[in-house]
Amino acid sequence: MCGIVATSGNPSADRFLIEGLYRLEYRGYDSAGIALINADGTVRRTRACGKVSALEEALDTQGRFASGVGIAHTRWATHGPASEKNAHPHTAGRVTVVHNGIIENDRELRHTLSNEGADFASDTDSEVIAHLLDRHITAGYSPEDALNETLEQLRGAFAFAAIIEGEPDLIIAARKGAPLLVATGDAGVYLASDPLAVIGYAASASYLVDGDRVIVRGRIVTVRSAEGVTVDRDPAPLPASASQVEKSGHAHFMAKEIHEQPVSLARTLTAYLHASARTVRTDICFEVGSAGRLAIVACGTAGYAGAVARYGFESLADLPSDVDTASEFRYRSPALTASTAALFISQSGETADTLEALRLVRARELPTMALINAPHSTMAREADLVLPTHAGPEIGVASTKAFTSQVAALFCLQILAARQRGTLTEEAEAEAVDDLMSAPATVSAVCEREAEIAAMAPLLSAAPLVVFLGRREGYPLALEGALKLKEISYIHAEGFPAGELKHGPLALIEPGVMCVILIPSDDLFDKTRASIEQVRARGSGVIAITDQQGAQSLKDQCEAVFTLPSATPRALLLAQACVLQLLAYHVARLRGADIDQPRNLAKSVTVE
Ligand code: M6R
Repeated sequence: MCGIVATSGNPSADRFLIEGLYRLEYRGYDSAGIALINADGTVRRTRACGKVSALEEALDTQGRFASGVGIAHTRWATHGPASEKNAHPHTAGRVTVVHNGIIENDRELRHTLSNEGADFASDTDSEVIAHLLDRHITAGYSPEDALNETLEQLRGAFAFAAIIEGEPDLIIAARKGAPLLVATGDAGVYLASDPLAVIGYAASASYLVDGDRVIVRGRIVTVRSAEGVTVDRDPAPLPASASQVEKSGHAHFMAKEIHEQPVSLARTLTAYLHASARTVRTDICFEVGSAGRLAIVACGTAGYAGAVARYGFESLADLPSDVDTASEFRYRSPALTASTAALFISQSGETADTLEALRLVRARELPTMALINAPHSTMAREADLVLPTHAGPEIGVASTKAFTSQVAALFCLQILAARQRGTLTEEAEAEAVDDLMSAPATVSAVCEREAEIAAMAPLLSAAPLVVFLGRREGYPLALEGALKLKEISYIHAEGFPAGELKHGPLALIEPGVMCVILIPSDDLFDKTRASIEQVRARGSGVIAITDQQGAQSLKDQCEAVFTLPSATPRALLLAQACVLQLLAYHVARLRGADIDQPRNLAKSVTVE
């Protein structure tokens, strides 16, 4: 949610900053801006509404400006519309600032500063940071002391970086509740919200912790903790190649990430399983099986991964489990007993609601596990135990490979819990491991049949409503299918348990509406087929996603049938997820939607 980058010492600061913004654009794309400081200490700021490309055009129109020090920002609007005046950087007096997060006491501060004569130029909360810094500098504080004074006055979550007119080699920055890293490369020093921005510019990055403040003078970096102690935040290596932030021949990051799933799944499974011994590794987790209850907490797609897994935690491991949306969990006073273990799921590891839910559980001194894709994220640092997903960087706003890796890792955790609870024989564990190990090939077989899935997309692209139906794990998968479709194609889509249709959702069905039904040929096949009959009788068209046996009996009943490769249950479930992703992707393509950067959304939701 908003991306910030800054550099000092790199003679082509503007080039790095623009490239960094492109790499962070997935965090927000309502507007973008850059400010560079000249050797004589004057600041030049350029801002544009819309995407980074609009900013780049504006910079080129103005004529580039050689500078070694600058800050830049790509915005996801929270306070005030996506207009140029609300685009970062914001300037007050001598100070120009970029900010990611939310200043919660913005109204009070604005009121006080206005009464003292400050003129606000934007509707943003961020502008108060510039005014506060400028006020303290004008009062005679050094930049570092002005930073400390300002931090005393701010409430909320933030990472910000500022430059000061008359200080041509200085950047000051701080973080609390929003990510920020500092990296030193051959050509300069870099600050960024996310490591993706600095891959190729530095070999390693230091991830700042809450309360840290940073002073960059030329190429000299000083980091001090909230207590004012100079600290070294251990640098962690960065990938050497920027290929992870490129589309590698695909039209969209989403397509690239869907097609990476056979590999990302294999990476996840290798980390969690002993394939030759046909067992789950015991060292991945503490005694999850000894928990009396498992509380699974997450948002969006990560929540649906948890909801898929809940079935197996209960059916396989007999471990009572709840799945909560983080924004509800944290405000509903959850009844957590001493034997509750909490599992937080997040691709980014920065989602504000999930992070606060984790802190709530930690405050109650209960064990926390976090299934996280971004290894250096705040959640990864704060959880008692980190379960990495190993999906690799995910850039498309619609989560795809992170979801399947989350589900795969959760399947492994279920097996471990079941073994620890004595509800799974060795033979059953071996079969479950074989099932999982076959998933990358099954998902790959689906990816190879992309053209078949694309051919079904026209059935959905003009529908006013698409209803996704499933049973058991197919139900949260239906919710995920609906979320994928709505977020990238803007078609109204809803997911329901197939058995629930007659309790209300059936009223939505009329000619023109389409249903996508997950219907494996299992013990519930005939019941789900009844749902197909009910919606067809009311004029809805149907796409069925089923296996070979199911396809035989459904082929005359549906507008289209996708026959899944023959596979074992877990592999089949992951394959269904892949079909739903590709279906949403091709519908969005037909509608000409902005697939990687859908309207109003951002990849990492670091505000409430
Ligand atoms: O980074 P997280 O996994 O915590 O993000 C949670 C949701 O914001 C995320 O899954 C969102 O729903 C995706 N855009 C779905 O594709």
